[in-house]
Amino acid sequence: MSVNTIAINRQMSHFDDHASVWLFGYGSIIFKADFPYLERRPAHIRGWARRFWQASHDHRGTPDAPGRVVTLIAQEGAVCAGMAYLITPEVFAHLDHREKNGYLRLATPIMFEDGQQAEGLIYIAAEDNQAFAGPAGEPEIARQIAGAAGPSGPNSEYLLKLAQALRELGAEDAHVFAIERHLLQLGPAAAVLSSGQRA
Ligand code: SIN
Repeated sequence: MSVNTIAINRQMSHFDDHASVWLFGYGSIIFKADFPYLERRPAHIRGWARRFWQASHDHRGTPDAPGRVVTLIAQEGAVCAGMAYLITPEVFAHLDHREKNGYLRLATPIMFEDGQQAEGLIYIAAEDNQAFAGPAGEPEIARQIAGAAGPSGPNSEYLLKLAQALRELGAEDAHVFAIERHLLQLGPAAAVLSSGQRA
């Protein structure tokens, strides 16, 4: 199941008069910056919790065997660490295509580690999108991830690279690290980093 959000995102005119825009990445955008950027800074946003609650039919799974990737769930007091990129508006065409399975651009304040703040964008897959998978136990999410792969590679690679990137940022994320632990307990065959490579 898939809903293509490209057309909706193209109508987002919030930063139309800006020469550059901060984009906050909290999932694959942290560890896979396949787009040009002017500057990159560790950052966080408030009031959002990262959750493996979005299905992936196009990158880390297939329509028949969807994977799970992260989205953000509103949660009072939550802090979500990630990476902010200063990009030019042309880059959104690539990002809208990459994030097309349910993710919409949303304006949000971004806090940098030095205390500065800027208004920027996130891609968020809301609970009413057709690919929203919703909550599940962390062991169950790990099993689903272990069994999924798509055009961008094994779903386990997404999880392991995200966990590694968060460690490098010095970020705590109990949900992501618990799923990583469960995946590693499933044995070496489950923790595929890329075709043939084990964690
Ligand atoms: C993001 O990384 O900010 C969005 C979710 C994803 O592409 O994994």
